[in-house]
Amino acid sequence: MTLRLEHVSRHFSVGGDIVRAVDDVSLQIERGELIALYGPSGSGKSTLLMIAAGLEPPDRGTVTWDGGAVPLSGRAADRWRRETLGVVLQHPQLVEGVPLHRSAGLRLEARGVRRSKARLDGIRALEDVGLGHRLEHRPDQLSIGQRQRAAIARALTTNPELILADEPTGNLDSHTSSEIVDLLDRLAHERGRAVLIVTHDPQLAHRADRVLRLEDGRLAELDSDLAPTS
Ligand SMILES: Nc1ncnc2c1ncn2[C@@H]1O[C@H](COP(=O)(O)OP(=O)(O)OP(=O)(O)O)[C@@H](O)[C@H]1O
Ligand SMILES: [Mg+2]
Repeated sequence: MTLRLEHVSRHFSVGGDIVRAVDDVSLQIERGELIALYGPSGSGKSTLLMIAAGLEPPDRGTVTWDGGAVPLSGRAADRWRRETLGVVLQHPQLVEGVPLHRSAGLRLEARGVRRSKARLDGIRALEDVGLGHRLEHRPDQLSIGQRQRAAIARALTTNPELILADEPTGNLDSHTSSEIVDLLDRLAHERGRAVLIVTHDPQLAHRADRVLRLEDGRLAELDSDLAPTS
């Protein structure tokens, strides 16, 4: 199971200027790997993650999963996202107005799992990210970091083969952050998932098998202090 991006670019035209958000990037992630994407604000990390998730079409280049093109629209895209992908966006959209325990199983239900079982599994995923005491809360009754963790839980309910997460620990204190880091680490290294995380967090970057640094939309040399420790 491999996600491969080859010579991917995404440029935006704003007010006559071209922003090269992602500029000729090639990378690959295999099962069992935790990869961190690191880089300054505006360097193109979120754009690249959206492209990897099939949520943003690249202007150039290809994105493949196990050799097949990642579908961008229609039923094939829905199916791919449902069956394969767990994605956590930088500003996650949750099911607003509904307590967490009621929406917890929706992704599994979409895969045909019975509602009662789907909910139980969804609640377990919420417990795994430390939200077991907030099941009755609606998303607007959560802190920013709790919303982010709810989004992580939702992405993980389906036990996806590929996990893409944009700053999953960005709003968390160091203790909660390290629990999320442990969770992502286990998913990659014990359960053989392919995990790509965008992060500014050196603690998380150090746990990665590889750290990719993005600068002005291009992959750049890595700072030596971020090289993997093991
Ligand atoms: N829809 C868009 N239209 C025009 N420009 C965009 C669009 N999306 C992103 N950009 C530009 O592309 C560049 C990369 O944005 P991106 O969100 O990928 O950065 P990032 O590395 O995730 O930053 P941060 O760490 O602040 O989240 C930025 O300069 C941004 O202004
Ligand atoms: Mg971003």
